[in-house]
Amino acid sequence: MKVTVLKTAEEIGVAVAKIFTDEVKANPDCILGLATGASPIPTYNSIIKTHKEEGISFKGVKTYNLDEYCDLPKADKNSYYTFMHEQLFNSLDILEENVHFLDGNATDTDAECRRYDNEINEAGGIDIQLLGIGNNAHIGFNEPADSFTDGSFKVKLTDSTIEANKIYFDENPMPHYALTMGVNQIMSAKKIVLIATGPKKAEAVRNMIKGEVTPQVPASILQNHNDVEIFLDEAAASLL
Ligand code: GLP
Repeated sequence: MKVTVLKTAEEIGVAVAKIFTDEVKANPDCILGLATGASPIPTYNSIIKTHKEEGISFKGVKTYNLDEYCDLPKADKNSYYTFMHEQLFNSLDILEENVHFLDGNATDTDAECRRYDNEINEAGGIDIQLLGIGNNAHIGFNEPADSFTDGSFKVKLTDSTIEANKIYFDENPMPHYALTMGVNQIMSAKKIVLIATGPKKAEAVRNMIKGEVTPQVPASILQNHNDVEIFLDEAAASLL
């Protein structure tokens, strides 16, 4: 694991965006795994800036998002589909047919998860996967569990995750289920970049980097990947 501590979330965004735009320059048909949440927003802002300033085209790029809420219309302001379009896709020249999500409203969620995993594998697998980390060390929506998960699946969100994410839902109730890529699917990405900022992430970050590899700390599995870069601000790195 390569750990980099920077002063601000904006500096992290610039550094992480460079990893992604360098990949797009070198490999215009690359496959990117993308994440939602507050952590990747500065990265997306910086990718958009580079796209505009340097004219890098995303027309050949395919993206696969980590997760999506269940029982939330695709167009809802809190769907991850909406988030990604607002924060990134609408400002790039990426083609709509090249952006991919799990369908959290599928009637047969098992079939939907197999479809998604097969599509990623048939596309050649993810070149770079972006991750945030939950306060309980979840990645995607892989919550602490008794074993590491494999492919995509439907998950019941923990109270800790509902508490952390419900601020976005105003008066509407937050979904309690989601579809997410599984841990092994995430681990099959050729390169993984994780961002954590703020004091609430410090314990999860310590356990991820310094603790034992255990499904009770889902992000700890990243210790077993041979190309992981972790970007932290000082608050998130404070317990290392
Ligand atoms: C959500 C997402 C994760 C994300 C995490 C942290 O639950 N499913 O992919 O990494 O929360 O979010 P934030 O970056 O807002 O702290």
